[in-house]
Amino acid sequence: MIYRLFPNPELELATAPASRERLVERGFERAYENAQEIGSDTVIQHIQAIRLGGRGGAAFPTARKWLSVKNEAESIKYVVMNADESEPGTFKDRELLLRDPLGPLTGLLIAASAVGAQQAYVYVRGEYRDVEIRIQEAITVLAEAGWIGPGKVSIDVRRGAGAYIAGEETALFNSIEGYRPEPRVKPPYPTAQGLFHKPTLIQNVETLANIALLFAHDVDWFRAVGTDATPGTKLVALSGHVANPGVYEVPFGIELGALIGDGQYGGGTGTGRPLKAVLMGGAAGTFITPQEAFEARLDYPDLAKFGAGVGSGAIMLFDSTADLGRILTGLARFFADESCGQCVPCRIGTKRILELLETQRLWDRRADLKDLATAMTDASICGLGQTAANALVSAMNRPSLWNEPAAL
Ligand SMILES: Cc1cc2nc3c(=O)[nH]c(=O)nc-3n(C[C@H](O)[C@H](O)[C@H](O)COP(=O)(O)O)c2cc1C
Ligand code: SF4
Repeated sequence: MIYRLFPNPELELATAPASRERLVERGFERAYENAQEIGSDTVIQHIQAIRLGGRGGAAFPTARKWLSVKNEAESIKYVVMNADESEPGTFKDRELLLRDPLGPLTGLLIAASAVGAQQAYVYVRGEYRDVEIRIQEAITVLAEAGWIGPGKVSIDVRRGAGAYIAGEETALFNSIEGYRPEPRVKPPYPTAQGLFHKPTLIQNVETLANIALLFAHDVDWFRAVGTDATPGTKLVALSGHVANPGVYEVPFGIELGALIGDGQYGGGTGTGRPLKAVLMGGAAGTFITPQEAFEARLDYPDLAKFGAGVGSGAIMLFDSTADLGRILTGLARFFADESCGQCVPCRIGTKRILELLETQRLWDRRADLKDLATAMTDASICGLGQTAANALVSAMNRPSLWNEPAAL
């Protein structure tokens, strides 16, 4: 077990509230000062050296976004922490912010000074009241430390209002601006025209926590765990038929079998029944078979062999009693409900998929389904529509998960 992103729960520090002492003890004061001292070019070079990819789901290279925003000539720029976290099975940012809010907030302030932003926002899921309290306490500590306030960067907290789509970056900007959370067509990308149509850097909570750790230590420390392709650790959220559900910090490259089966992590299904399927990467993720799970490692190149990804780090386990049709119907209902309705492939496609599942015509209409999934992936405006059919298609392409003979 690794404790980098938050302290070992067995230590006193783990439950200590945000305070100046904690800021020092966790190394975040050092991180903030280091980043100011070395300057934005070197800050971005260090982020590039650790190959940090965004931890919100898409793993986009972080350094590239920072450089783009920094290079924009506009005088007004924004940085945003995305703590909306509304995908079923994803709850790692909640844990991170409850246990160590000073880390991601330090990362946010390092980001603001590196790209030249004067205003930062934290967008937190509306239901996360307890998390919001921890964030506000931590902001008070940062103000007392003199990092924010008049003449310096300001941090404002905005609460989401129960829509999964508000976590999509451009929908989130609309939400902060007071509009409906509907995604915008890209380009222009947020780095050029984001919040209030100004250059904006938006990062996931965990990505920013990694930034704080990088500058609290150094590139070699960061790279000491993980793989060459993906240094560092990942927070994973285990749920479903699992003996020890919860959030675990693990090095990239860990065997998925160990993560699922070892007592220090998942500990197996916990039901006494064998594993039937694993959903990697959340509701928009990929179903893999137990055999694939036991061959794979938690890393992007390795999981790509199975058509899967790390996503936001959600891993759901299903034992032999799981009714895959029912599970897929639940996921389809989620996407049909959460589609903002703005574009046709997603608005209609998510409803058609739900109908096929509810009327159990999935296998008879598999050719239509394949066309539908392709249209949704190719022609939807945002990631919701583009990925809504992923889990279904991945499950249908694995006949061993069903009693059906053929793949899609
Ligand atoms: C429907 C949808 C919901 C999303 N929800 C979140 C979310 O809750 N948190 C998050 O960090 N990213 C979410 N994303 C990804 C964001 O659009 C964006 O890529 C991310 O915040 C960038 O941060 P990162 O590069 O640090 O991962 C979502 C994307 C989509 C399409
Ligand atoms: S893909 Fe879906 S959620 Fe995204 S903009 Fe289109 S309708 Fe809205």
